[in-house]
Amino acid sequence: MSKSRIDNPTLRERVMSAEQAATLIDSGSTIGMSGFTGSGYPKAVPLALAARIEAEHAAGNPFRVRIWTGASTGPELDGALAKADGIEFRLPYNSDPIAREKINRGEMEYFDMHLSQVAPMAWQGFLGPLDTAVIEVSGIRADGALIPSSSVGNNKTWLDRAEKVILEVNRWQNPALEGMHDIYYGTALPPHRVPIPLVRADDRIGEPYFRVDPDKIVAIVETEAPDRNLPFAAPDAAAHAIAGHLIEFFTHEVARGRLPASLLPLQSGVGNIANAVLTGLVDGPFSDMTSFTEVIQDGMLDLLDSGKLRMASATAFSLSPEAAARLNADLGRYRNAMILRPQEISNHPELIRRLGCLAMNGLIEADIYGNVNSTHVMGSRIQNGIGGSGDFARNAYVSIFMTPSTAKGGKISAIVPQASHVDHISQDVQVLVTEQGLADLRGLSPKQRATLIIERCAHPDYRPALADYYARARVGSYGQQSPSLPGEALSWHQRFMETGSMRF
Ligand code: COA
Repeated sequence: MSKSRIDNPTLRERVMSAEQAATLIDSGSTIGMSGFTGSGYPKAVPLALAARIEAEHAAGNPFRVRIWTGASTGPELDGALAKADGIEFRLPYNSDPIAREKINRGEMEYFDMHLSQVAPMAWQGFLGPLDTAVIEVSGIRADGALIPSSSVGNNKTWLDRAEKVILEVNRWQNPALEGMHDIYYGTALPPHRVPIPLVRADDRIGEPYFRVDPDKIVAIVETEAPDRNLPFAAPDAAAHAIAGHLIEFFTHEVARGRLPASLLPLQSGVGNIANAVLTGLVDGPFSDMTSFTEVIQDGMLDLLDSGKLRMASATAFSLSPEAAARLNADLGRYRNAMILRPQEISNHPELIRRLGCLAMNGLIEADIYGNVNSTHVMGSRIQNGIGGSGDFARNAYVSIFMTPSTAKGGKISAIVPQASHVDHISQDVQVLVTEQGLADLRGLSPKQRATLIIERCAHPDYRPALADYYARARVGSYGQQSPSLPGEALSWHQRFMETGSMRF
């Protein structure tokens, strides 16, 4: 193992094993863990806690904890604890398959929430007390300040709010991360809130380190373990087509004088399509771009490499192993073009509105009026969560949602008569794009939106059935503002549940 990264002699005395640290956590306690996507989450203490929980269960003792994080994490955290049946309650986001199964079987409570609201809600006391923070850092300075690692998330809030703190100091994290973070300590609760002094995506308004009361630190565990993010799928024809439609749209907006030539700060959501669109922008005509977003994913790195993206502001890296290696090999060069912030700042509605972000997010399904479901398959089965999509969609300069027009090999239409669950109401959905085409919905009434969405976005296999439904709703609906046939509106989902396909 390489040299210790704990430069504070008093704190060095608190080093112990992950197993010892895990004994400091009680059943029933609430734990605020670091982690945002597969980056910067603790990798040893959650595994040791999972082993302890399994042993307690084997001995007939109930043992479950409540887990708060930044967003999703890695298999050593969500996966291991869910497998051990150790999570009683989880917030604010999950994409782990084992935890997803537990939630969908009704065995784990999950509060899926806007990511910008987690820290303020914790401060307001709405979420209850926080017993322990378990936070990965990349080092501890001689003065006791903590050097953040590859995600910031809610760490500042967990460190402030928790009664006791366990730190994981991960030597795998690149030492060149030091100085890249911008931790803002100026937030407050009403009536003491003041404007956040950030007016450009590349402004720095905070400090590079976390502060922590050293008396709260009960354990420090040294690790040398990699972040774990899944590789992105190579962009397929649908992803290329979606990227093409979006670039054409942006080009048109620039030509009409509605966007500057360098566009406005880009927000790109999670998932394969969002990543493919970023990669598509590499070949697009725009340069000197910036991003004000939640995660820096592979496509963002490609854009930086191309010289077309000047800087990226986010709360975490979300890089495939290949891209993480690329970043780490050359972090000295990338670091000046990247800022990692707390998620209450990266996703702050006030800042998103002020900067005029171009929000680009994925979806599960949209209905003919452009209400978007980002989270629930067939209205009841959680996929991941709303994440930051609501923070950005409602406040963006242009709110774009994108998806292939079908899922599951064509058995599911992504455009349906009525969304089976709504995360983003039609007013927050201004542009809808599939590989079939792009619908610019700004300034249109519900009926005008429906016509355009069916024509431009639906797959040809489902377009006639949607047009038929809409035509009948124009006649038989109770009202004609947003025509609908309630008895039939969710029949496509019912058919899928009964036959395995929405096809007729
Ligand atoms: N019905 C059933 N399943 C669907 C579906 C639908 N209408 N649309 C997508 N899916 C499934 C896909 O089949 C795939 O399943 P698999 O993993 O079993 O193959 C999965 O959802 C992911 O879909 P994919 O087409 O690969 O898209 P993606 O990776 O771009 O993810 C979301 C799409 C909606 C799941 C993803 O964007 C998400 O979680 N969004 C919510 C959070 C968010 O927007 N965060 C960004 C904020 S900054």
